[in-house]
Amino acid sequence: MKSVAIKGQKQFEVKEIEEPVSKDGYVVLDVKKAGICGSDIHYWVSGQPEGLVMGHEFCGIVTDPGAREDLKVGDRVTALPISPCGHCSACMTGNPQYCRETWTNASGLSLTHPGAYAPKLAVRPDMVIKVPDTITDEEVSMVEPTAVGLHAIHLADIKVGAKVLVIGAGIIGLVSAMFAKKEGASYVAISETNEARGKKSVELGVADEWFDAKKETFMNDIMTKTNGGFDVVIECCGNAPAVSSALMTARPGGTVVLAGVALGSITIPTVVAVMSELTLKGAIAYTKEEFQTCIDLMANKQIDVTKFVSKVVSLEEVQASFEELTCGTSDSIKILIDPAK
Ligand SMILES: NC(=O)c1ccc[n+]([C@@H]2O[C@H](COP(=O)([O-])OP(=O)(O)OC[C@H]3O[C@@H](n4cnc5c(N)ncnc54)[C@H](O)[C@@H]3O)[C@@H](O)[C@H]2O)c1
Ligand SMILES: [Zn+2]
Ligand SMILES: [Zn+2]
Repeated sequence: MKSVAIKGQKQFEVKEIEEPVSKDGYVVLDVKKAGICGSDIHYWVSGQPEGLVMGHEFCGIVTDPGAREDLKVGDRVTALPISPCGHCSACMTGNPQYCRETWTNASGLSLTHPGAYAPKLAVRPDMVIKVPDTITDEEVSMVEPTAVGLHAIHLADIKVGAKVLVIGAGIIGLVSAMFAKKEGASYVAISETNEARGKKSVELGVADEWFDAKKETFMNDIMTKTNGGFDVVIECCGNAPAVSSALMTARPGGTVVLAGVALGSITIPTVVAVMSELTLKGAIAYTKEEFQTCIDLMANKQIDVTKFVSKVVSLEEVQASFEELTCGTSDSIKILIDPAK
């Protein structure tokens, strides 16, 4: 079957790989929609690992239920794309995101388990979740990034009336801003270097205001507006300027949640965190419960994530979509892939 694999720095190739079959009880799916994630962008930029077929956000139709006796051919599902061991203390306490094995065989994030940038994929049976008919294929493919935002917000512990800054208006930032409002924040701002995305965050109703991080007066504008900084800052980019601005825009005694991923080491002014006695929290992935909560919120129409979907493309259009998402001026947010297109 056709797939999209990393070939080199900022380079994909459309290539044939073997169709997955059910082995070790794995559930085989026909991919209906797969999301392009900001983390996928990091891999594509680095060109490593070569041959990786990404796609860890997906909606699929079961073609072989494998070990899952409760599933049948034709069921619509998604899955946590991770590979926790299931028996360490992290797994036993409902925190698979802390398990050392979680990323080892992750679907779409490891060479051993090709992801959904292909018409079919095989997923670990215990990670598969059947979804209700009331949510669309687009929504199902958005459960994973929505759960990332929900996890970051749970860690942020936002108090009613809090002022919250979200750094970066990609899907993780926008979903985090959406949940910050739901948690009772009185003012939610976004900072962005991409003007089109900054404006869109306000138009979509998830931010009250956006700040241009490229402007020389950026820091001064924010400090004046908040009278000394935000109660909570959620960093959703991962680069050094963004993480530095997260530390500098939090009020003394405030909380900074780091959700952005830097693949290498970065230099940041830790003295700011010391002098302001900031609480820094890393946020990775989600719990199984948070994943299910996002499905329930979508099914009950308590959140609308379809407004973040900018377009649906074919496998051949994936290279151009990554180029668009990294050009720095596009207002596209979530681009979904339909392998049957
Ligand atoms: N913690 C997790 O579990 C988890 C899960 C998924 C993604 N991520 C990470 O979260 C980050 C965001 O993901 P995404 O899909 O939203 O990515 P994205 O690339 O779509 O969005 C990042 C946004 O940050 C903006 N930006 C860059 N530098 C900035 C700066 N200095 N100030 C303000 N804005 C700036 C970019 O213009 C872009 O719009 C990525 O690093 C991704 O790897 C983390
Ligand atoms: Zn993702
Ligand atoms: Zn474990």
